[in-house]
Amino acid sequence: MIYLDHAATSWPKPPPVLAAITDFLVHSGGSPGRSAHRLSLKAARSLYAARETLANFLNAPDPLRVLFTANATEALNLAIYGLLRPGDRVVTTAMEHNAVMRPLRDLERQGVQLVVVPCGPDGSLDPEDMRRAARPGTRLLVANHASNVTGTLLPIAELGALAREIQTLLLVDAAQTAGALPLDMQALGIDLLAFTGHKALLGPPGTGGLVLGPRLDPAELQPRIRGGTGSRSEREEQPDDLPDKFESGTPNGPGIAGLLAGVQTVQQLGLENIRAHEIRLTEQLIQGLQAIPGVRLYGPQDPRKRTATVSFTVDKRRVSEVAWRLDEEFGVLCRVGLHCAPAAHRTLGTFPEGTIRFAAGFTTTADQIAAALQAVQEIAR
Ligand code: ALA
Repeated sequence: MIYLDHAATSWPKPPPVLAAITDFLVHSGGSPGRSAHRLSLKAARSLYAARETLANFLNAPDPLRVLFTANATEALNLAIYGLLRPGDRVVTTAMEHNAVMRPLRDLERQGVQLVVVPCGPDGSLDPEDMRRAARPGTRLLVANHASNVTGTLLPIAELGALAREIQTLLLVDAAQTAGALPLDMQALGIDLLAFTGHKALLGPPGTGGLVLGPRLDPAELQPRIRGGTGSRSEREEQPDDLPDKFESGTPNGPGIAGLLAGVQTVQQLGLENIRAHEIRLTEQLIQGLQAIPGVRLYGPQDPRKRTATVSFTVDKRRVSEVAWRLDEEFGVLCRVGLHCAPAAHRTLGTFPEGTIRFAAGFTTTADQIAAALQAVQEIAR
């Protein structure tokens, strides 16, 4: 089996991740922050260690500004619904995933003014187009760091500078890049960073978070859910303390312990090594697909301008048929269709059929890429 679906979720998980999940359930299975007994304290320490490690990894200003959620979608919803009110103006790009688009379209119906800035046919964004759309008075800029369809990297540093210049906030969907690319949220000027734990951070599904930058006043952000936090229990109102204001209910302790082990694995491997390996694989994939007659590629040619996610179509073949044959006949597992990102496919001109998507990860080998290319060649013939 050749697993080329790392942009959906990374697989297999590293053994330390599996061990950390089991270890949490066996040795620290208490409810963190709720009781004072030893199992509860162990669980709380494990949770805090994950917060500290992630804060360090993403250069967050404070571990307490790492808010855990179930996934990037929940983090994006927290940021978008937590900040925007009717009458506000929000500017986003035409390459966003539905985790951004659906909340924004919903808020548009409630009176939020939404501006969607077009992107180039390879998914790239000209920061000048964003500048023209994002005039002062805009409440929020929202952009992905990399497209989940083409891997195209957006100019986040330029958007961070723009957000400062016009005194607005920048929310970045880093679902495709956290763990795959260096991500210093303060250097990039990111005010709210949504990440998922189960992709390049190598953790289990059910983990993710929203990280608040130094410019974001937590008082401006409303929680999505309210409830027990184990703190200020004398009050019937939600506490204002971080992270409790945004984290009601017993957290996903085993999942977050697994996520901590995933981030530590990435740190041990070295982000630069992971990135260099993925650039090599992407180069191999692009060159190999370009050489197959009838294959059409989407996204930038330069592997340095994208992640290891490569979308393509095959002339005169339905994408669903190609993906089905890749799995059934060649054991190549990929993702096909619209990838929950119809706006991106409209930008690329691949709506409504979509594309076949190969997404390599740090465990993918050059031999596997060669075998996948051979399979596409046979199907295209
Ligand atoms: N959004 C994830 C993907 O692109 C699940 O596959």
